[in-house]
Amino acid sequence: MTSFDTLDYDVLVIGAGGAGLRAAIEASAHGVSVGLICKSLLGKAHTVMAEGGVAAALSNVDERDNWKVHFTDTMRGGQYLNNWRMAELHAKEAPDRVRELEAWGALFDRTKDGKILQRNFGGHKYPRLAHVGDRTGLEMIRTLQDHGIHLGMEVHMEFTVVTLLKDGGRVVGVFGYDRERGRFKAFRAKAVVLATGGVGRAYKITSNSWEYTGDGHSLAYHAGADLLDMEFLQFHPTGMVWPPSVRGILVTEGVRGEGGILLNKEGRRFMFDDIPDLYKNQTADNEEEGWRYTQGDRNARRPPELLTRDHVARCIVREIKAGRGSPHGGVFLDIAWIKAKIPNAADVIKKKLPSMYHQFKKLADIDITKEPMEVGPTTHYMMGGVKVDADTQMSTVPGLFAAGECAAGLHGANRLGGNSLSDLLVFGKRAGEHAAIFAKENKHGKIDEAQIKAVMNEALAPFDRNDGENPYQVQYDLQEMMQDLVGIVRNEEEMQKATSELKKLRERATKVRVVGNREYNGGWHTALDLQNLLTVSEAITLAALHRKESRGAHFREDFPNKDAESGTFNLVIRKGAGGQMEIVRQPLLEVRPDLKEVIEEMK
Ligand code: FUM
Repeated sequence: MTSFDTLDYDVLVIGAGGAGLRAAIEASAHGVSVGLICKSLLGKAHTVMAEGGVAAALSNVDERDNWKVHFTDTMRGGQYLNNWRMAELHAKEAPDRVRELEAWGALFDRTKDGKILQRNFGGHKYPRLAHVGDRTGLEMIRTLQDHGIHLGMEVHMEFTVVTLLKDGGRVVGVFGYDRERGRFKAFRAKAVVLATGGVGRAYKITSNSWEYTGDGHSLAYHAGADLLDMEFLQFHPTGMVWPPSVRGILVTEGVRGEGGILLNKEGRRFMFDDIPDLYKNQTADNEEEGWRYTQGDRNARRPPELLTRDHVARCIVREIKAGRGSPHGGVFLDIAWIKAKIPNAADVIKKKLPSMYHQFKKLADIDITKEPMEVGPTTHYMMGGVKVDADTQMSTVPGLFAAGECAAGLHGANRLGGNSLSDLLVFGKRAGEHAAIFAKENKHGKIDEAQIKAVMNEALAPFDRNDGENPYQVQYDLQEMMQDLVGIVRNEEEMQKATSELKKLRERATKVRVVGNREYNGGWHTALDLQNLLTVSEAITLAALHRKESRGAHFREDFPNKDAESGTFNLVIRKGAGGQMEIVRQPLLEVRPDLKEVIEEMK
């Protein structure tokens, strides 16, 4: 058998974005030994794609804000399928997590009187997003990284986990390979925290980079954990559409938060056409009022561009389908128009949105202080993921915890912008804390050599084939298929087709061939990632077929309305005894009476 090293930790964190770093920091602070695995280089994480800010009811810009309003906004945004306990913890704890980050060195933008500045974002009633220009996620990662490495955690970069190891019913470690040399390694751990981010690479157009192949979702599923809400995948309304090489790269919602407006090719502000009942009383019905809101007029209502992402994305798709889109298949996002409203607009734009200015100048030769951008929806964030206990973040498998995007519950059917960053701080901390407690209460488990041998053989099989397909081709076809058949607008016929296509793709994936040796072999890595992409694609499709209504990010043209009965359950996906994927309805938990009152009060 090929040899491999084994390392031991009390707590092992897989994923070094915001959630993983925050979990590792907390576990270290509890005095246990911590290993941190990054699929890529430390600091390279999708967290940096949450550019516009971190949501927390600090009430620095509008003193009417508080945890109750944030809680209610989150529940409403999630169409009430959220885990209400998570929404409560999140709204209550986010301000402390942001202030803590500041104490650790994060440099937020400031109000005139020196407090952390907050901006408007979709679905948030008051200006709530603490930010650093349009580089908030980056500043958070920098701060967490700096703070974390001083606590003594050991970082393993460029390492991919292939399987979770179990002893009886409990997760006791992981097994995988390092990308540089292709060597296998086992990690024994008393507790494992998954913080692997999302699944964007299952789609052709995405803001996610190559790492986001649903690894945590798939690892947890194959280890027997429940997945929740897999039908709810967020398409961020504004990604770049041109040139083709940059299609999908995020254009922060911060542009709209600073007054950017959406226009079709006729120059019409189409977002005024369709304002959902749920938001009618909060949304302006004329340009002037929307503009006044962005300028801090407390009596004005929000511009319609700041409706929730699911709605904005669908309105954009509607314009494109109706032939009213921009030349390259998007719509126009215009921030330059504010020069009609304020002096020195170009300087304001460059100061508030420096990355967007550079991104468009360098990648598309567009000066956003003078011209509109072309934008369209991009696969951005997975609301669904590992089902966790709200307080501890432990999954349904003992010893396995999850936090951040790969965990589910907080966001329900749709996430509000900026709630991802606060989510990963609040629940990363909780996952680290409870993983450390679990590690103190449990001994190391036994590693099953037979399991490892089988995994190694399977992982190396693509090298042994004399012929077979290129794994990149299978991945490409999967991405195209998911984009076309299980995208923003879904229907039964297309998803049934997707189901049979997935079977064929799985078959093809078992026959891929890779050439060369194991050192930095991208083809080999893709062949292994494919297994995760297929698992999450199957889960998304199965759940999306099962939910016969439209709610939040899940829109079915054959069931275009919300259905009362469907609003009473979440969908759970798990591996059945025979290895097949099973789906069950999980009734929503009754909201605690005091929280029900909060929701009523806020209405
Ligand atoms: O648009 C953005 O800046 C993204 C934020 C988020 O996904 O939370």
